[in-house]
Amino acid sequence: MADLTLHGVTKAFGSHVVLDRLSLQIRSGECFTIIGPSGCGKTVILRLIAGFETPDQGEVLIGNKKVAGPNFALPPEDRHIGVVFQDYAVWPHKTVFGNIAYPLELAGVAKSELNTRVHEAIALVNLKGLEQRFPYQLSGGQQQRVALARALVMKPEILLLDEPLTNLDANLREEMRFEIKEIQKATGATILYVTHDQEVAMAISDRLAVMDQNGRIHQVGPPEEVYTRPADDFVFKFLGISNMVPITSTEEKAVASGPGGMTEIPLQPPTSLREQGWLGFRPMDVQIAKQKTERTVAVHAVRVTLLGPIVDYLFDCKGLQIRAQMLTEDALAQDLIIEEGSNVFIAVDAPHWFNAQGEAVS
Ligand SMILES: Nc1ncnc2c1ncn2[C@@H]1O[C@H](COP(=O)(O)OP(=O)(O)OP(=O)(O)O)[C@@H](O)[C@H]1O
Ligand SMILES: [Mg+2]
Repeated sequence: MADLTLHGVTKAFGSHVVLDRLSLQIRSGECFTIIGPSGCGKTVILRLIAGFETPDQGEVLIGNKKVAGPNFALPPEDRHIGVVFQDYAVWPHKTVFGNIAYPLELAGVAKSELNTRVHEAIALVNLKGLEQRFPYQLSGGQQQRVALARALVMKPEILLLDEPLTNLDANLREEMRFEIKEIQKATGATILYVTHDQEVAMAISDRLAVMDQNGRIHQVGPPEEVYTRPADDFVFKFLGISNMVPITSTEEKAVASGPGGMTEIPLQPPTSLREQGWLGFRPMDVQIAKQKTERTVAVHAVRVTLLGPIVDYLFDCKGLQIRAQMLTEDALAQDLIIEEGSNVFIAVDAPHWFNAQGEAVS
C-alpha cells in the first residue's frame, strides 16, 4: 500500500481553472474525504488520479512513483486504482456476476481464481444470492454495490469513491457508511471519498479536506478537529447548520448589530479580536431559558418546529435571525415547546469567533 500525493496540480477546461496548484497527501490505508460544494472539482480530482484526465501542471504520485504530470500519464489500468463514479454505470446486459467478473476476464485471470474472487467481492458488499440478476432487477442501492464490487475485485491499493451514497435513501446511506468502513478494514485499501454531504464525511473519514467553490482547500484534519476548530467561516458554515452574527468587539464585550439595533452579548471575545468580526455558533449550542440571567440575551420565537427527536427554533433578536435546537425530551421537561411569538432568553455555549476576513480567532 502506498501514499497518494497530489503536488501542485492545476487543471483548466478552456479558460475555466478548476484546480489551481492543489496539493494533498493521502496516507496509505486511510479513509480520506474531500468535501465541497457541487461543481468545486471533486470528480475532476478523481479523474486526474484515476488517469482519465491529465494535469496541466503538477504531479500525481502513488508512493514515490509518478503516475501523472503535464507530459506524462500512466494508463489507468496500470495504476491499480479502483473507481466508483457518481453514476456507477453497470453494464445492463451483464448479470451481477458478469459485471463483477468482467475486469478479471479482461485481465485474463484463470476461471477458478476468477470464481473465488468474484464471490469474495460479492460477500464484501453483501450481494449474496443476487449473482444471476440483471441490473434492471436491482434497486439503485444494489446496483451501486455491484459497481463497488466491480472496483474491489481487482484488489486495488487505492479506491476512489465519488458520492456513491447520494442516490440512496437515508437508511441505506447509513448502512453503506458502515460498509465502507468495513471494506476499508477488510482490504486495507486507501480510500479517497468525495462528497458534498458533511454527515457522511464526518462519519467515515480518518481525515477530511474542506474545499470551496473555487477548488481551494481551506482545512485538512480529522473530522472532530475540523468540526470543533474550523480554520475559518467557510469551514464552519459548510460543516453544519450555523448562526453567524456580525459583531463589534471591544476589550470586554461584544456587541451584535442587527437591522433593529445593537445587542450586548454577554460573552468575552478573544483579546486578539478587535473591531468588526463574527460570532458563530451551532443551533445545538444555544441554551434556551424562560428566565433572564447575566448570561442571556432576550429574543422572541418566530417559528417552533417539532422535528421528532429535536425541536427547531427560529428566534429574532432585533432583526437578527438565530436558529436553535434542543432535544425534544429536554424541551418537554423544561416546558420549552413554546408558542410562536413568545419571549424567551438564550445563551451561547461553544462560541466561535472570526475576524472580518473570516479567519478563526481564539
Ligand atoms: N470535461 C470537462 N469540460 C469542461 N468543463 C468541465 C469538464 N469536467 C468538469 N468540468 C467543470 O469543472 C468543474 C468541476 O466539475 P466536477 O465534476 O469536478 O465538480 P464536482 O465537485 O464533482 O461537483 P458535483 O458535486 O456536482 O459532482 C465544473 O464547473 C464543471 O463544469
Ligand atoms: Mg462530482
